[in-house]
Amino acid sequence: MNILSVGGGAREHAIVKALLKSDNIVLYSAMKNRNPGIAKASKEFLLVNEIETDKIADWAERNKIDLAVIGPEAPLGEGIVDALEKKGIRTVGPTKRASQIEISKQYMRALMKKHDLPGRVDYEVFDNIARLKDFMNEYQKEVVVKPVGLTGGKGVKIMGEHLNDKKDVIEYSKQIIENKIGGAAKVILEEKLLGEEFTFQVFCDGKNIVPMPVVQDHKRAYEGDVGPNTGGMGSYSCADHLLPFLEKKEYEGSLRIIQKTIDAMRSEGNPYKGILYAQFMLTPQGPKIIEFNCRFGDPEAMNVLPLLKSDFVEICFNIADESLSQNKIEFDGKATVCKYIVPKGYGVKSLVGEEIVVNEERIKKSGAELFYASVNEKDGRIYTTSSRSLGIVGIADDLEGAERISEEALKHVKGNVSMRHDIGKKESIEKKVKHMNELRMKFRS
Ligand code: AMP
Ligand code: GLY
Repeated sequence: MNILSVGGGAREHAIVKALLKSDNIVLYSAMKNRNPGIAKASKEFLLVNEIETDKIADWAERNKIDLAVIGPEAPLGEGIVDALEKKGIRTVGPTKRASQIEISKQYMRALMKKHDLPGRVDYEVFDNIARLKDFMNEYQKEVVVKPVGLTGGKGVKIMGEHLNDKKDVIEYSKQIIENKIGGAAKVILEEKLLGEEFTFQVFCDGKNIVPMPVVQDHKRAYEGDVGPNTGGMGSYSCADHLLPFLEKKEYEGSLRIIQKTIDAMRSEGNPYKGILYAQFMLTPQGPKIIEFNCRFGDPEAMNVLPLLKSDFVEICFNIADESLSQNKIEFDGKATVCKYIVPKGYGVKSLVGEEIVVNEERIKKSGAELFYASVNEKDGRIYTTSSRSLGIVGIADDLEGAERISEEALKHVKGNVSMRHDIGKKESIEKKVKHMNELRMKFRS
C-alpha cells in the first residue's frame, strides 16, 4: 500500500514511524526540508513548499497513493485535503473549510458562542481602534491580545506579562490592525485565563472521537517557564494518561467540550475529520479552550504515537471512511518525556546552518526514541534551520524513568544547540501541581 506523508518536522517523523509499524507500507513523503529520518524511510520524497497543494496532489496521483496523512496546519489551511480527495485519495485531515477551527480564531470563538458550548471565554473581535478603546475603558478583567489569523503562537501578547496596562493593549492592537499581523486587519481580545495548560488530542471521523493520552507542553524558551514563546520545547505524559494536576472529572469535562465542538461543526454542515488538538487552560472554574489546532501537536505527537498499540494505518482509514466507532484504540500505559533540541538562539534568532552530530546508535542504546525535526541533511551531515532540530523521547513505567532516559540520550547530540533540562523533572511537575492547588484554594475561599 502506498502512503503519503506531508511535512518535514519531528511530528511527521513520529507519524511516519507509527505508519511503518504496519506491514506492506511503501512510504512517499512531501516536505520542505530534507528530514533525514523521513527521507531514509521513504521510497521517494518530494522537496516542496508544503502549501503547493496541487503540485503535491498531482505527485500523489502519479505515485498511486492509497492514503495520505497531513502533518502541518499550513497545507490544511490551503485545502490539501480537498485537492487530494478530488483525486480519489483518502486523506487524514480536515478540509479547508473545517480547518478554520485553527486557522481563524474568530471562526472558533463564534462557533463556541453560537452553540453555547462549555469551556468558552469572553472575547471580542475588532477592526477599529476607536471601538476597541471604548471596550477597554469598560472591561474590568485583564485581557490577552491575538491577531485573528495564524502567527505560529508568537503573535499573542498577555496583559501582566508582555503588556503592562490598557495603553499597551491599545498600542499593540493598533499595530496588528495597521500591519495586518496574522494576515488580516483584525484583532481579538480574550479574557485572560489563569491555570495550567494541557493538550488533548483526539482522532475524529466527523462524528465520533477517540481520545489520546493528555500531554503538557512547555512553550517558553527557557528553563523555569520563562522567556519568549516558542513552538514548544518539550512535553510529558503520564502512565495513567491523565496529568498530575488534572482530575478525572476535569478530564471528562474536557472530552465533552471536544465532542460538543465536533457536534456543532457537523450541525453547521462543516464536519471535522482528522486529528483535533484542543489546547486547554485548566482553571479553578474548570477547563477552558485556549485554541484548537487541526492536526497533531508538535511535540505532543511524539508523546502519544509511540504509545499507540493499535494499528495506526487502520485508524487512519477509519477516520477517512467515517467508521472510527468500530475501532478499538489502545495506548500503552506508560509515561513519556520529550525534550526538544533547538538551535542556539531559538525563540529570538536561531543560529542557522550549524552542524549537529547525532549518535543514533548511542541514543538507541539509551532506550530513547529519536525524531528528526526541521534540520537539513546534506552529504550525510545534519544542519540546523531556524526551527527546532530534534526531539528525544524517553518512555518508561513512570515519569522519573522516562525523564532519566531522555536525559541520557541528550548527551549523544553535539553542536551549537540548546534544550530545557527541567521538562518532566520532579521539581518542575511539583511546581505545576502547587500552582494549580493554590489557584483552586484562592477560588474556593
Ligand atoms: P495561542 O496561539 O492561542 O495558543 O496562544 C499562545 C499562548 O498564549 C498559549 O499557549 C497561552 O499560554 C497563552 N494564551 C492564549 N490565550 C490565552 C488566554 N485567553 N488566557 C491566558 N493565556 C492565553
Ligand atoms: N505544541 C504546540 C502545537 O503543536 O501547536
